[in-house]
Parts: sequence; C-alpha cells; structure tokens
Amino acid sequence: MRLTHCHNFHDFRRLARKRLPGPIFDYIDGAADDEVTHRANTSAFASYDLVPNVLRGVGAVDMSVTVMGQRLALPVYCSPTALQRLFHHEGERAVAAAAGKYGTMFGVSSLGTVSLEEARRISGAPQVYQFYFHKDRGLNRAMMDRAKGAGIEVMMLTVDSITGGNRERDKRTGFSIPFRLTLPGMLQFAMKPAWGINYLTHERFKLPQLDGHVDMGGGALSISRYFTEMLDPALSWDDVAAMVREWGGQFCLKGVMSVEDARRAVEIGCTGIVLSNHGGRQLDGSRTGFDQLAEIVDAVGDRIDVIMDGGVQRGTHVLKALSLGAKAVGLGRYYLFPLAAAGQAGVERALGLMRTEIERDMRLMGCASIDQLTRANLRALGSTRPIAPLPV
Ligand code: LAC
Repeated sequence: MRLTHCHNFHDFRRLARKRLPGPIFDYIDGAADDEVTHRANTSAFASYDLVPNVLRGVGAVDMSVTVMGQRLALPVYCSPTALQRLFHHEGERAVAAAAGKYGTMFGVSSLGTVSLEEARRISGAPQVYQFYFHKDRGLNRAMMDRAKGAGIEVMMLTVDSITGGNRERDKRTGFSIPFRLTLPGMLQFAMKPAWGINYLTHERFKLPQLDGHVDMGGGALSISRYFTEMLDPALSWDDVAAMVREWGGQFCLKGVMSVEDARRAVEIGCTGIVLSNHGGRQLDGSRTGFDQLAEIVDAVGDRIDVIMDGGVQRGTHVLKALSLGAKAVGLGRYYLFPLAAAGQAGVERALGLMRTEIERDMRLMGCASIDQLTRANLRALGSTRPIAPLPV
C-alpha cells in the first residue's frame, strides 16, 4: 500500500501500522482502560443526522474560521501531540510545514521533539503551545518566557492529565523513553528493521522544550510516570488564573468538560476551551467532547471560543461539530497516522483530503460559509424535534 492509495483515516492507519514497530503504533492507537471512550469519540458523531438544504448557490465555499483571534483557512487544526520524532524522523517539522501550507493552526507539545522556536521558523501559521504544568515552578516560568520570546499565538494548558491514564497497551509492550521494552515489545521492534535503520540514521531523539529538566539517562520515562511524577496534581484554578494573567494573550484550557468548569474558565479570563477527553487516553468512561458541545456552547458560547476534539475522521464530523456551535475542531490521530506513514507528504495528503471533504460536504449541505451551518441542519437520531437553537 502506498500513500496515493490512502483515501481516508483508516487507510493511513493501516499504512502506519505497516511501518511502525508495534509498541509505537500502539502508543498512538491505544487509549485508557477498555478504550470505551476512545471508540465513543467517533461513534458520537452518528448520534446526529445532517439535514441539508439545496439550491442555495454554493459555487464558492468559504471554509475559513476565526478562533481565539486567529484566522484559519480551515475549521480544523492539528492539535498538539507528543513525541512526533518517534513516528517519523521529520516529526513536528512535517506537521508545522503542512499546517502552514493549508493555512491552519498547529500545536507543539511540551513533550515535542522539535523546539517551539524551530517550528515557529518553519510555519507562518498560528502556533499553539501545549503546556503541561510541572511541579517545578521554575521550569513552568522558563517555559512561559520561552513561549513569549518565540512569538507563540495561543497558550494551551492541558488540564485532563493531572495523573497518567491507564494505558494497558503501553504496559504490555513496555513503551517508554528511551525504549525499555518488554521481550514481546523488543520482538515487535525487530520485525520493523526499516523503521529502526531510519531511526538510528537520523537526528537523535530529544525533548527540547524540557531541556535540562528531564534526565533521560537515569531510567526510562513512561508517559504515565511523566504525568504522575513531574506534573503538579495540586494545580488549582488560582494557579491557572495567575498563569492567564502572566501570559496576557490568547489562553486556552484543553480538557474542560463540565459547565461549571467552562464558566470558571470564562471568569479567569481564558479565551478558549477545548472539550476533549485526550483521545480517550486519560479517563475511560468519560463523555465525548461532541456529546458535551451543545450544553457548553449554550452556557458560555457567547463569552469564550468553544472548540472540540476527539475521534474526528471525516468532513461530516467537522460539520456536525460546527453546526452545534464549535468554533473549530482539533485533529490528533487523524494527522499522526499520515505522519507515521509518510512524513510531511502524509500530513499534507491528510489535510488535503479533509479540506476536499469539508468543501464537498458544505456544498451538499447548501452552506457557502461556516456561519451558515446551524442547529437547523441537525437532528438527533430518533428525534423528530430540532435541537434548541443557539441563544442570541
Ligand atoms: C499522551 C500525552 C503525552 O496522550 O499527550 O500520550
């Protein structure tokens, strides 16, 4: 199978699975506990039907949105994700460049393998800095200062990872950094020698955002250990309020799910929230961002930009979220499998396919611009009544 044979998420996933050693594929593909929330993220979109309008003059379609002060050519963006160098030697460089080409936002993680400054030089697109709040306050301050210096547009604090999710696939394979694999994990690596040669002949793996703070010589760091040992479980709304003040710009909380928390985010001056369950990788059994959208948009949608992520694989998923009131939609595995499959070319192909799908779907819905997507275009499955419209 080649890149040109990839036409959707599932094709990219299959190609990535061929290329990647099992433990790395499972790190991306896997989620917490029984992976119920992970599966629910995508199936949630099926709980609504689209109701199209016709004959509305959709010759030109404008897919652009403005979110947290950033103008995006597409209503989707590349969410920050960790450790991209492991998936492909181009890592975050590929994602930054592809996002730049498509005029959309991308995130660089605290656990990114390319520095935020370098990503900034590669792409003219708006850049999100995904922030983990560490016990080491000096590290937090240094990271904020660096992000300011780099000209980051949006600060995004992840709040759903106060401790590590129970990722049983990683436990089984021994996935950690540097690799401390179990015997079955090692055998899976041995089965993908091309990945191994490529990994060894390209730039060394590093975590430049945490330079000097994570000692990887002293033992393997599992993601679970990083969350549990280095992040501060005492993090409170007061700490975040101080961070928002110190940042003084666009500030977004990723992983807010309740109305109460959404209101508090508004009160402390956040400009965005991402309804997210971290791709099902943290609290299994938690609600999906999509299912939670209407309630949160109704409560705070006029005061803060509400964004969602999780399980997005199709243009129609994006249209459903936008119709419920999301300002933009984050992609994760949707671009990670293409990255693993083919680097920048893979991410570009995936974003291109998504753009084509969204444009086609908007035409079929009779919408020439994103603001024409409203709740009148949706029916809850099994319901004959329209969903309550957005408050004006
Ligand atoms: C994960 C973190 C690192 O989900 O975002 O693995």
